[in-house]
Amino acid sequence: MLGKEKQSGQRLKHILLAVTGGIAAYKAAELVRLFKREGAEVRVVMTQSATQFVAPLTFQALSGNLVHIELLDVEAENAMGHISLARWADVLVIAPATANTIAKLSQGLADDLLSTLYLAATCPVYVAPAMNQAMWNHLATQENIATLVRHGVSLIGPEQGDQACGETGFGRMSEPVAIGKIILSALNEELFEAVSTAPQAKFLTGLKILITAGPTCEPLDPVRYLTNRSSGKMGYAVAAAAVKAGAEVTLVSGPVTLAPPENVTVLKVSTAEEMYQAVLREALKQDIYIGAAAVADYSPVQSIHKLKKQNDQDSLTLVLQKTPDILASVAALEHGPFTVGFAAETHDLETYARDKLTRKKIDMIAANWVGREQGGFDSEQNALQVFWSDGEQLLAMMDKTLLAEQLLELIAQRFKTVRAGR
Ligand code: C5P
Repeated sequence: MLGKEKQSGQRLKHILLAVTGGIAAYKAAELVRLFKREGAEVRVVMTQSATQFVAPLTFQALSGNLVHIELLDVEAENAMGHISLARWADVLVIAPATANTIAKLSQGLADDLLSTLYLAATCPVYVAPAMNQAMWNHLATQENIATLVRHGVSLIGPEQGDQACGETGFGRMSEPVAIGKIILSALNEELFEAVSTAPQAKFLTGLKILITAGPTCEPLDPVRYLTNRSSGKMGYAVAAAAVKAGAEVTLVSGPVTLAPPENVTVLKVSTAEEMYQAVLREALKQDIYIGAAAVADYSPVQSIHKLKKQNDQDSLTLVLQKTPDILASVAALEHGPFTVGFAAETHDLETYARDKLTRKKIDMIAANWVGREQGGFDSEQNALQVFWSDGEQLLAMMDKTLLAEQLLELIAQRFKTVRAGR
């Protein structure tokens, strides 16, 4: 009976793993072992081209189940056709996902077993892309990825590093342990514990990182203030990811409702001036400064007493004073840290971001669109276009936790290049 096996009174988790035709297909074998070891029931679907990389027999032996390849296989249809497979799955994991598969899924094609399954599946879908870095960066792939994310798909990776083709960049499939951690965490908190003890990549070990996050609050009078819609989620995600990558992290936070990340020194501030003071006190001890806070550019000249309604006046003029530019001040420090800024723009993103990069004399800037349907302030997801003096990189729309990890990898790479050149 589909989906009704019981063990100790509880049904095993059903993981449907789809393997497509990339060199990383061999890593999917490790993923099957990992899922099985954690007590899940695994079924594997392969595209025709995936069978050129790894023999179906490998997955059959590891999963203990027949491997599904054909859409119209009379025997398989009787036992477990595409609709039954889609219903059976608690989660569909596509790892590795090639550019071709991503394109097909984004268009809603249904010309093979996997693409048909994707349309039929109502369970959560996770996609772990794997491809050459130029293919990953191509606008066509980035647009297809954005479409999948709009469908509700969760993205895992890709990671940065050496590729099978000899190039370096984003496009490597995330390691099976990292993929496993995300899937098992989604399925079962207890299983997550077992996997999360696996070693993480500690690419920031030995580095001190100062991060700002959240909005600032600028008082008008004793009871009113000016602020903005920043939730602090991006800065907090960057702080958590930096700790995970081995850094010693100090977070200067404006007023937010988020719980402080573990193992981070948090300095709470309210106004831009307080943030400036806290950052400048810490900056010279740091290797990297990441200004993710939405700092007020202007602050009202504060009234000691509560402003009174003027019954004879229809309008009220507030006098605002420029706040110190924290990021530019840190960048101007002699022997200061490597500086990374953020730019939230409603239009002409690249022009404004590049202008900030040069005007504030910072090392990198991560720009994102605001005022759009998806991403930006208070959203769980975001996309970033990252610029530096002689390069740029698009980080596709994804969960802010994953985005923070990818951003940090990019920062670490640039930081090491710049430091090596000094
Ligand atoms: O100039 P703009 O405010 O658009 O630049 C955004 C970047 O500058 C962000 O990284 C933000 O944290 C930083 N910033 C700052 N101090 C300010 C204003 C912005 O550090 N007063």
